[in-house]
Amino acid sequence: MDKRTFLKSLGLMSLAAVPSVNGLEKWIEMHSHIPAGKLANNEDFWQGIRKGYRLKPDYINLENGYYCIQPQETLDGFIQHVRDVNYQGSYYMRTVQWENKKKMSDKLSKLTGCNSDELIITRNTTESLDMIIGGMHWEIGDEAVMAEQDYGAMLEMFKLVSRRYGVINKVISVPNHPKSDEEIVELYANAITKKTRLLMVCHMINITGHILPIRKICDMAHKKGVQVMVDGAHTLAHIQFSLKDLDCDYYGASLHKWLSVPLGAGVLFVKKKNIPNIWPLLAEGPRKEDDISSLNHIGTHPVHTDLAISNAIDYYLMIGPERKEERLRYLQNYWTNKVRSIANVILNTPKDPSRSCGIANVGIKGMKPGVLAQTLIEKYKIYIVAIDGANVHGCRITPNVYTTPEELDVFVKALKELAA
Ligand SMILES: Cc1ncc(COP(=O)(O)O)c(C=O)c1O
Repeated sequence: MDKRTFLKSLGLMSLAAVPSVNGLEKWIEMHSHIPAGKLANNEDFWQGIRKGYRLKPDYINLENGYYCIQPQETLDGFIQHVRDVNYQGSYYMRTVQWENKKKMSDKLSKLTGCNSDELIITRNTTESLDMIIGGMHWEIGDEAVMAEQDYGAMLEMFKLVSRRYGVINKVISVPNHPKSDEEIVELYANAITKKTRLLMVCHMINITGHILPIRKICDMAHKKGVQVMVDGAHTLAHIQFSLKDLDCDYYGASLHKWLSVPLGAGVLFVKKKNIPNIWPLLAEGPRKEDDISSLNHIGTHPVHTDLAISNAIDYYLMIGPERKEERLRYLQNYWTNKVRSIANVILNTPKDPSRSCGIANVGIKGMKPGVLAQTLIEKYKIYIVAIDGANVHGCRITPNVYTTPEELDVFVKALKELAA
């Protein structure tokens, strides 16, 4: 073996050393003849998936929206990567660190349906999207459009850019129960003027789980010469989509959410033609102006997290994107259908299955969301998060693939008692 091949094989050791997932693979294979829609309520099958997770017995975790814990397979793979990188030390960092990271971003481009030279790995959605907001060549009086339901970190970044460059921010409010896609598209369209440069929109609003018609919004904005930046923090590995179909200009997502990558991994897509127009967060050495790596300098960071992206994608593909989406939507409908018509219960998520998936938000008339959240954990041992703002007053409920209908029954019972 020559020196170069030896270095390569050593560097890739961490990828090869991931334990196999034979048991789970066989389990999924045994059920592969069942269509995803039918499998969504096959509790035997999902019990098998649940067994792959180590779950804290103290409470029912219906707050997977912040961070989706890793299944044991991914966690084991990740720990192995930590050991391997630690074993090789600087040697790893100086030899195959970048090559391996590129393998991960290539795998992510395949998963998200974009070209591999249009996507980079970041630390999270905040880094991805704030790099775009802060990195545009703003001029005084330029305008940006966003919604009050967008995520706080990005709204704050727009405020910073407003103070710094004199950008005017136009903030709309997305209705919780729209009549049609057109109603939403028109809301955004009405906020656009000749001075609008960038429109930010959530693929899935984090506080309600509301899925927005991204392609239609992009088509409308592009006709008016406005670029679209999509916040996909909650959609990657939750619902199926392809970046090519969405046709947005920028897309950011957190991989530690629905893809269940270890904490501290995100992704940024930038359409090739837009790359030269963005100032990087941190300066990179000389690059061609449309080379996306010019936006990717971060310094030394936990590279083993990047390596675990491969394990997480393998796990996700093994479960199957369609099966996962169907199961998450089934779980949401399972509990929302049981409480929707109960007096004093307010659902803040659209009923239309094309406008929501696993996440939904529910409130109780006359009860502060914070009080509801506290009562649920103290009295019923159910962990959720309270949302009280941006026209949304309720608690966000986010089950995951390991959640059981029995757990949701406990939640439904609690809601019924509290609403009465
Ligand atoms: C819609 C949305 N955007 C952005 C973020 C920020 O994600 P991160 O903290 O991983 O950067 C979140 C986090 O919950 C979110 O829900």
